[in-house]
Amino acid sequence: MQYLEIRGGKKLSGSVTISGAKNAALPVIAATILSDKPVTLTNLPDVVDIRTLLKLLTMLGGKVDHEGTVAHIDNGPISSHKAVYEIVSQMRASILVLGPLLTRFGECEVSLPGGCAIGQRPIDLHLKALEAMGAEIAIESGYVHAKAPHGLHGAKIIFDKITVGGTENVVMAAAMAKGTTTIINAAKEPEIVQLCEMIADAGVKIEGIGSNELTIEGTDGRPLAFKTVEIIPDRIEAGTYLCAGAITQSEITLEKVNAEHIRASIDKLESMGCSFDISENSITIHPAEVIKPVNLITIEYPGFPTDMQAQFMAVAALAEGESLIEERLFENRFMHVSELNRLGADIWLKGSVAAVKGVDQLHGADVMATDLRASSALVLAGLVADGVTNVRRIYHLDRGYDDLEGKLSALGADIVRKKDGK
Ligand code: UD1
Repeated sequence: MQYLEIRGGKKLSGSVTISGAKNAALPVIAATILSDKPVTLTNLPDVVDIRTLLKLLTMLGGKVDHEGTVAHIDNGPISSHKAVYEIVSQMRASILVLGPLLTRFGECEVSLPGGCAIGQRPIDLHLKALEAMGAEIAIESGYVHAKAPHGLHGAKIIFDKITVGGTENVVMAAAMAKGTTTIINAAKEPEIVQLCEMIADAGVKIEGIGSNELTIEGTDGRPLAFKTVEIIPDRIEAGTYLCAGAITQSEITLEKVNAEHIRASIDKLESMGCSFDISENSITIHPAEVIKPVNLITIEYPGFPTDMQAQFMAVAALAEGESLIEERLFENRFMHVSELNRLGADIWLKGSVAAVKGVDQLHGADVMATDLRASSALVLAGLVADGVTNVRRIYHLDRGYDDLEGKLSALGADIVRKKDGK
């Protein structure tokens, strides 16, 4: 098994280029199913989740030519409509093929994703919305069997809860449905804006992009023809590097980043004593002399993102004073707490709130990554812990961070990927 060995205490300096957003690329890749013509995607991050979804497309019969940050995809030849357990169990976001497969082919089978380390993560809202659009859905042997022999039709969808994946599935399904679909209480993350713009650029009329109410006029079964899509910068990767600057008290610059998308993280880091120089594509963080404590609550965009909660907890672990961090989106997203405490943090958990009492110093230890963002919080803590921190189970990190150790090494961190027994 691979792990990361980090010798903490090094100051960072220089600049890091932010990769394309995994969470934007995944729905964009799924949306290519809406087309029977070739489409090119650029600025893809080099992470496992992207390769997994591209593999799923090839298993469906699509042709994929993927190298580096670019993929040419031709979903004209798709002949299978089944997303198998082997793939969906590796990556929950495979559920994003449900809407586009169903709306283009009138039937599909997608394995149920099941729960994961951060919570149950049901897909009931995706299914309910597709049923409202005329789908017949049955769950058998761990698979969602969905049918719409006469195609899907437009509907008024009111989501009980704001769901990113649910909104994406419905937007894609609505793009080729008959008539108009309205989504009330839609998610409005930048990743959803990118998906809507890709579909709108293909000639589908979408109103309300970037708001909580979307109206989509479907093509009544006509496949779309997409222009080349350049994936937006990864706001979570960017936020993680800002936290790397904050926790190591180093001045670093992020290139190819959209500051607007990470406003909530910037605001919180400002309240912790950091300051920033922001230009169109770059951000420089000037660290706090003394890290101040922070209070934050995770909430939907443009609020503070749950995907940054663990990294901020690592920074707060070294603040002068007590921080309160409340997780509102996922019921079990605190697996990093006990690992951070193994590094000497003083965090007390009650329900969905963590009280983080800042300490003067963290100390290196072996720690276990439990999910993608928790893993990066452990790496951040390792950057400042004295001695050696070994972060294990880094396959989680490889799912979503493009060359994390390469980028951190280039900034001056002492971080090496190792293999047990070597
Ligand atoms: C996406 C992101 C993930 C991020 C999350 C919240 C991707 C690939 N993943 O996940 O990184 O942490 O948004 O910003 O983009 N829910 C239901 N029923 C449903 C769907 C969701 O109850 O049918 C609940 C979830 O359990 C969760 C909340 O709604 O408590 C939000 O989940 P959702 O926005 O759907 O997250 P994902 O799309 O899975």
